[in-house]
Amino acid sequence: MSGFETVIYEKTESIACITLNRPHALNAFNVRMRDELYEVLSAIKADDEVRVALFRGAGDKAFCAGADLKEFLTAPSVVKARQIRSIRDLWRLFLSMPQPLIAALHGYVLGSGIEIALYCDLRIAAPDAVFGLPEVSLGILPAAGGTQTLPRILGLSGALDMLLTGRRLSAQEAINMGMVNQIVPREKLLQTADDLAHKIASFDPLVIRNAKQAVIKGMDLTLDQGLDLEWRLAAKIRES
Ligand code: COA
Repeated sequence: MSGFETVIYEKTESIACITLNRPHALNAFNVRMRDELYEVLSAIKADDEVRVALFRGAGDKAFCAGADLKEFLTAPSVVKARQIRSIRDLWRLFLSMPQPLIAALHGYVLGSGIEIALYCDLRIAAPDAVFGLPEVSLGILPAAGGTQTLPRILGLSGALDMLLTGRRLSAQEAINMGMVNQIVPREKLLQTADDLAHKIASFDPLVIRNAKQAVIKGMDLTLDQGLDLEWRLAAKIRES
């Protein structure tokens, strides 16, 4: 897959790498990027060869500085936006990805940048990563799932702290609050993420997919229902 304007898609053996590629605009998320990510994620989801997908940002300064504020002012009507979302819901697609997703985060990780990272299963950050949800200061809600994914990862108080104040977190604060799994020197960020992807890819893909499914789906179930789900997924592995 090639010919994209806002993302780079590379597949090496069983690892897919998606680079958000608008470094001149700090990889701000625009409509084109939404459409291209939708295409790339759909292809990855259908590709059994891909065992892990890795997300990164191009350039030195940012993983993604949030929604494209220049395009924001030219947004179509609310009705149109709702229609587009119903036929091309990138955020539900992220949520439905069977393969583990890893985010390699550096520089600004703002707005939809955080929201993309929160759809990933593992987050590795460079020490210069800065996390924030500036939406409230712009008079909008984070609408790429942030109000739902953030409390599931940070807990209620950490999520409300970020959402209501728009304050920025350093990489150290982000790891203390459980938003990132590890901090590694900037020059080792991609290698560390790639090593992790290869380690996960070396395991039985059905076991990995089912483990992810058990945890992600289980989050929305009662413990009793979750135990049933776990049993069914474990049985599928035993039967295979
Ligand atoms: N949308 C569109 N363009 C953006 C952008 C965004 N969210 N964030 C940065 N850019 C562009 C800038 O307009 C600038 O482009 P230009 O060189 O053509 O003027 C370029 O990226 C570099 O940004 P700049 O502001 O010069 O870098 P900085 O280091 O001084 O500041 C930020 C970095 C992230 C603090 C600042 O760019 C910013 O506050 N961006 C907006 C963040 C935001 O509110 N996102 C929306 C969340 S909903």
